[in-house]
Amino acid sequence: MVTGNTRMKPLEVCILAAGLGTRMKSDRPKALQSLAGRPLLAHQLDEIARLQPTRVHAVIGQGADMIRDAFSDNDAIHWVLQEERLGTGHAMMQALPHVSDNANVLVILGDVPLISVETMQRLVQSEADLTVLSVLLEDPSGYGRIVREESGQVLRIVEQRDADDREQAIKEINTGLMFTSATRMSGWLSRLNRDNDQNEYLLTDLVGLANDDQQSVEALLADNPLEVTGINSRQQLAAVERDLQERIASDLMSQGVQLADPERIDVRGELKVGRDVFIDVGCVFEGRCQIEDGVSIGPYCVIRDSLIGQETVIKSHTVLDGATVSSECSVGPYARLRPEARLEAGAAIGNFVEVKKSVVGAGSKASHLAYLGDSTIGEGVNIGAGTITCNYDGVNKHQTHIGDGVFVGSNTSLVAPVSVEDGANIGAGSVITTDVPSQSLAIGRGRQRNIEGWATRKKKG
Ligand code: UD1
Ligand code: CA
Repeated sequence: MVTGNTRMKPLEVCILAAGLGTRMKSDRPKALQSLAGRPLLAHQLDEIARLQPTRVHAVIGQGADMIRDAFSDNDAIHWVLQEERLGTGHAMMQALPHVSDNANVLVILGDVPLISVETMQRLVQSEADLTVLSVLLEDPSGYGRIVREESGQVLRIVEQRDADDREQAIKEINTGLMFTSATRMSGWLSRLNRDNDQNEYLLTDLVGLANDDQQSVEALLADNPLEVTGINSRQQLAAVERDLQERIASDLMSQGVQLADPERIDVRGELKVGRDVFIDVGCVFEGRCQIEDGVSIGPYCVIRDSLIGQETVIKSHTVLDGATVSSECSVGPYARLRPEARLEAGAAIGNFVEVKKSVVGAGSKASHLAYLGDSTIGEGVNIGAGTITCNYDGVNKHQTHIGDGVFVGSNTSLVAPVSVEDGANIGAGSVITTDVPSQSLAIGRGRQRNIEGWATRKKKG
């Protein structure tokens, strides 16, 4: 008998994330453990948003305040507190009173972070009275097993701890996703008991109850085990991280990126790429990054929230954070571009050069050992080794302006606020405290004095 879950009904999603996550041995709730640089819960919420449900409830318990804080900018979540954690069935009992009676309910366990919207869509289109999502696993240990009749009819779900040898051999497991109507759910929840090895209310017992009621139960098979892997331990978290990174690396290659080793790249956020990009081993990308065509990135670079323009070369061990690098630039090795650093086309930043909140004009170079902060640097400028913009007076930050075609000699201190106009030259070792006019030479250092015979006189005493 198929009564169906009318498609016209509103859809409400319940995420169960109040468990202790004991096996993680962490002070952080499991929902906040990080996968590819983002909390587990964030991965799910993104996909759920694409499903466009009427409401999303998240049942939380341990570390509830931390979780709420972490998602304080997301007001689409309705938080439900499960004070006493008596199992997944009990968690659902806390959420259901907040779900409207005429809704359909999609239940998702909070520790299954990679569930896709496509799979959720399949589930919510099911016509059965109760639908669960299952998957076939070579190694089903730890999971609840789907027990079917010979005809294939789903009878019940048995948890690993309650399963006999025959049931333990079943390779079709419960992913924890479940879909039904709020009214049916309510009836079943009221009949759950704690008569099991864990002494908990198990949501999985709903399958048996539905059968008792002669209601139709369907188990839809997920086709990708990675998508439905549950994370209970650090080992599982690391394994899912690797799987996910492998998938990301493969996507990048499909878009035309050459990876020196697909197993040695980590993307923790969103990475947009052009064609013929080369990425060497050990690079980490965080936040939102964009890399245009023909860019080459050397080994062991860390790149966060940055844009890299066409044909630019980033050499090894470079750190970019909130930087904009235009086309045909050269950066590194060992360079550090901090937030609001902007390099115009063809600029070159070499080893041990730090740039912060500064614009480096087209074709300008700072090849070695320099600090450029709060500054604007024109085109075709040469910044000598050891140059420092002294931007901080202990209280305030000040600007340095360097015009086009300026030559700054090595080991120069530019004491801001100060301006060096177009075409000016600065002698090495200068401390520049006042503005330098266009096309002039500024030298600001102690004059050299040579004292003849000084060394011999010293020896004589
Ligand atoms: C659960 C399923 C199991 C399935 C597996 C898939 C049950 C009883 N078992 O087992 O059939 O194969 O997931 O990954 O459902 N939670 C609460 N409140 C509680 C207890 C748990 O909110 O009182 C939440 C947890 O935070 C977690 C989720 O429910 O996100 C699942 O709990 P967990 O203890 O990890 O269940 P499993 O043993 O993995
Ligand atoms: Ca789990």
